[in-house]
Amino acid sequence: MPFSVQIVRVLRSIAAMIAVSILPALAAAEEPVEPPTFHHRVLWMKNPQHEAVLSWTTREAGERHVVHYDTVSRGGDAAAYAMTATSFKDGMYTMKDADAAWVQPAYYHHAHLAGLAPDTIYYVAFSSDGAVSREFHFRTAPAEDIEFAMLFGGDSRIGTTDPYEHTDRQKMNLRMRALFEEIPNLYGLIHGGDYCMLAEWRYLQPWLSDHELTTTEAGRLLPIIPARGNHDRGIGFEEMFPWPNFDRNYYYKTPLTPAVTLVTLNTETTLGGDQRDWLESTLQGARPDTRWLLASYHRPAFSSVRPLQDGASRRDNWVPLFEKFNVDLVLESHDHALKRTMPIRSSAPDLEKGIVYIGDGGLGVPQRTPDPTRWWLQEPGMTKSVHHVHVLEFGMEGMHVRAFGMDAEIHDDFTLTPRNAPTGATTTQ
Ligand SMILES: [Fe+2]
Repeated sequence: MPFSVQIVRVLRSIAAMIAVSILPALAAAEEPVEPPTFHHRVLWMKNPQHEAVLSWTTREAGERHVVHYDTVSRGGDAAAYAMTATSFKDGMYTMKDADAAWVQPAYYHHAHLAGLAPDTIYYVAFSSDGAVSREFHFRTAPAEDIEFAMLFGGDSRIGTTDPYEHTDRQKMNLRMRALFEEIPNLYGLIHGGDYCMLAEWRYLQPWLSDHELTTTEAGRLLPIIPARGNHDRGIGFEEMFPWPNFDRNYYYKTPLTPAVTLVTLNTETTLGGDQRDWLESTLQGARPDTRWLLASYHRPAFSSVRPLQDGASRRDNWVPLFEKFNVDLVLESHDHALKRTMPIRSSAPDLEKGIVYIGDGGLGVPQRTPDPTRWWLQEPGMTKSVHHVHVLEFGMEGMHVRAFGMDAEIHDDFTLTPRNAPTGATTTQ
């Protein structure tokens, strides 16, 4: 064999060895490795001082799914945590038959933590069949009447023109994370509904992945208080936000502190009947001892974009109760534009005793063009076509409300004074 041929063969064998030993490593480095547990998150509904549902996803069904938790950091050492909660609800995210050929299944897991101490940081590690996540932490709601803040936003679904475009949602989630890290005593997110398109739950699951962007660098999870939107009526919603022994159709009361109560309503079921009766008794029971009383739901009573008649059912069934019990602020979504109404009472401006409605959904969904000529959007109201998230700061003397844009610019800024001192006295208005 000529020497030159031997040289070529040696070089080829060396190249082959390099390919065998190095290229797979390079390929592995390029493809992100999916961790055994992901989509880690916290759900608040009832009793956030003492309860939470912690949720996560796996690629395999698995058999044993638990959350390890403690009031002391244990660094992800599962055996070191003082307490363990076993998942109460597991299953495969629902898909349609047509999905089976090309959709990779995934499995949800939900563990209910009860008996928690208020205003306490809990360190948690998610475990599926022994594969343990990094350590995260979350803070329970306060049991004292203190000053604190919440985020409010809605409509984090993607648009209809490009089902793969979710960049704006990611940017808004990163904005929420920055606010979560910067604002002292910010406890959670009030979400007004419409998380994603149905196909997105089934095929891509990026809402869950994108929500992970709200988790701080230090691993603090942002609790979410969800309302049901019109895009959340099919598959997915119950698999995302379950609560053990839940006895109503996603309308519920969340006492955030002894002086601040949030009522979440469901615009995707009957507004009257049981829901209206429940709303009346709940507002009546909460008002005397509550400085700040809020309502959150998806479809607005006072739209920024849709025609006036669109909100008639909310105005007929719920607004009279908001006015009877002097709700302080109403949180709406669905229209895809920023708004603040002027104070409204009896379907007319009332600067002294009216109720302000804010919204209308800007956590990533493409924004629409609102109608600034409507009477309820006149000064001191406003409206604008811009992505946004509200920061609600609950003080003793005032509630400071700001609407932040994608780049931290402030689009709206106002302060409400309390109608009611939480002394047990009933309102006289
Ligand atoms: Fe909607």
